[in-house]
Amino acid sequence: MATTTLTKAEDRVSAGHAARIDHVSKSFGGPEGPQLVLDDITLDVAPGEFVTLLGASGCGKSTLLNLVAGLDRPTAGSIETPGGRPALMFQEHALFPWLTAGKNIELALRLRGVPKSDRRAEAERLLELVRLAGAYGKRVHELSGGMRQRVAMARALAQDSQLLLMDEPFAALDAITRDVLHDELTRIWRETNISVLFVTHNVREAVRLAERVVLLSSRPGRIAREWTVAIDQPRRIEDTAVAELSVEITEQLRGEIRRHGQH
Ligand SMILES: Nc1ncnc2c1ncn2[C@@H]1O[C@H](COP(=O)(O)OP(=O)(O)OP(=O)(O)O)[C@@H](O)[C@H]1O
Ligand SMILES: [Mg+2]
Repeated sequence: MATTTLTKAEDRVSAGHAARIDHVSKSFGGPEGPQLVLDDITLDVAPGEFVTLLGASGCGKSTLLNLVAGLDRPTAGSIETPGGRPALMFQEHALFPWLTAGKNIELALRLRGVPKSDRRAEAERLLELVRLAGAYGKRVHELSGGMRQRVAMARALAQDSQLLLMDEPFAALDAITRDVLHDELTRIWRETNISVLFVTHNVREAVRLAERVVLLSSRPGRIAREWTVAIDQPRRIEDTAVAELSVEITEQLRGEIRRHGQH
């Protein structure tokens, strides 16, 4: 609702940033010499803010997310995440198949230093948060794709990071399951006040979820444009306002893709 958004915006004024990406460029070595993938990206994510990063396939979205996660280093520029190490969630759930849902989450709690005696209750609380109460003892192969992504979300939240990085986490799911998980993610984001940097090439998804949509150009990835999404949450992907803004953004995205001869 609008009031929540306002309170969040007010909180942010004095709270600094959850991520500061400052003039970041990234090149990879190739057979024809270094290829510039990201060019001079500057982007701040405020505490509690939900930002989606949108762009054509291959434009460098995952590369940028990996840099923010600290998995790789920028060729130039700097990245700060003052709240500590971000949590990361991918398209593939990356759960350990030999562990139960609960034990997958407890592993993240252990790595965070949560004492053994507290882990089970905390894992159960997180499973409840993603609406999977009762799945504690289930093995990964017993869970549906949507349930696995919920466990992966719970595991990411178990890291207790202030910044959650999500790389197309729902891309492999059917539309209805994705819809449900959009609702859950929005609810969790509002309940926990975590900052989210969410990568997708689905424009509707970007608008459905975010307070701000950032469009990257291709080859090299640069910030082409950004939009503030002033549509009250909770939103639905089929809302007229979501559809209208999506049409506008899709036109820009098509322009970016045409410019680089991709499909
Ligand atoms: N480790 C690497 N070594 C060399 N090239 C890389 C490496 N990682 C990414 N690239 C190249 O950087 C470019 C951007 O890749 P990236 O995975 O960031 O794109 P993306 O926007 O996430 O695409 P998609 O939407 O398909 O996931 C691609 O041309 C890719 O081949
Ligand atoms: Mg990617």
